[in-house]
Amino acid sequence: MKHCRSIDELGKEGLLRLLDSTDQMAEINRRPIPKVPALRGKTVVSLFFEDSTRTRLSFETAAKRLSAETMTFSVSTSSVNKGESLRDTVETITDMGVHAFVVRHKSAGVPWQIAQWTNASIINAGDGAHQHPTQALVDCYTVREAIGRHSLDGLNVTIVGDIKHSRVARSNIAAFTMLGARVTLVAPPTLLPPHTGQWPVQISHSLDEVLASTDVLYMLRLQSERMDQGLIPHLGEYGNRFGLTDVRAQRLQSSAVVMHPGPMNRGVEMHVDPADLPNSLIHKQVANGVSVRMAVLFDVLARGAEVNSLKEEVVA
Ligand code: NCD
Repeated sequence: MKHCRSIDELGKEGLLRLLDSTDQMAEINRRPIPKVPALRGKTVVSLFFEDSTRTRLSFETAAKRLSAETMTFSVSTSSVNKGESLRDTVETITDMGVHAFVVRHKSAGVPWQIAQWTNASIINAGDGAHQHPTQALVDCYTVREAIGRHSLDGLNVTIVGDIKHSRVARSNIAAFTMLGARVTLVAPPTLLPPHTGQWPVQISHSLDEVLASTDVLYMLRLQSERMDQGLIPHLGEYGNRFGLTDVRAQRLQSSAVVMHPGPMNRGVEMHVDPADLPNSLIHKQVANGVSVRMAVLFDVLARGAEVNSLKEEVVA
């Protein structure tokens, strides 16, 4: 695989391959020195035009654990502020000898656009409200680990909140359904995009109605930075209807798990403290983020050629 840009481009085969190789990376991460020489000589640049904590840090950690060189591009200190275009920025970085761009941008489609200006691999770390494939890989891996089986056949996944602006929802709907899960979206009508009729999902406007049959409760943040109109009449009312409160958490099945991609808005979609939820996978999602991103970087940069290098250890 040259690029990792969307779940559809990966397809079920690519999704399963990456989930399998995440197991190998998780094994490396359990070693006393979690570092292998697999990507020695490769350079990975993170090109983030939007804020990020976990995605950016987990990609950079993943690259370092595979012994790649890393470069960080920070918009606030770059020549973008002097009027340099995206194309000139990408071509300049390419000239320095980069093998992979990890890109986050507020506009959908930027990872495909950039691929026309460089021969390097492109990994989509979030493009507008379009795709966030590595988050979906993290989430599928984390659910598989929690339920102890590979297929998600028959599992009821409920995704709650701002579906309209969520690239995580779009990638996760595709990935969860590829693995056999049934996905239900719960949101007020104003936070659903108009074309959900073509998506492989069920829609509900009541969280209370679907709680009892939910196996995986996936909470989303209100993406206010992507909202251009008042879609929520009152934040408190939204929280009352669509937030995870103590009462709702108690109504979940004892085997149900709770997920959130972060960042969380406490008191809006999350009224409970996740630390009080016995079945929260939120910390596991973050921890698995490093292994998943190692699998993606290895897949696009080594392309199967150096699998043995995963067995070696780096001598510190
Ligand atoms: C998400 C994102 O940026 O799309 N966060 C993440 O990558 N973990 C979700 C969000 O911002 O709400």
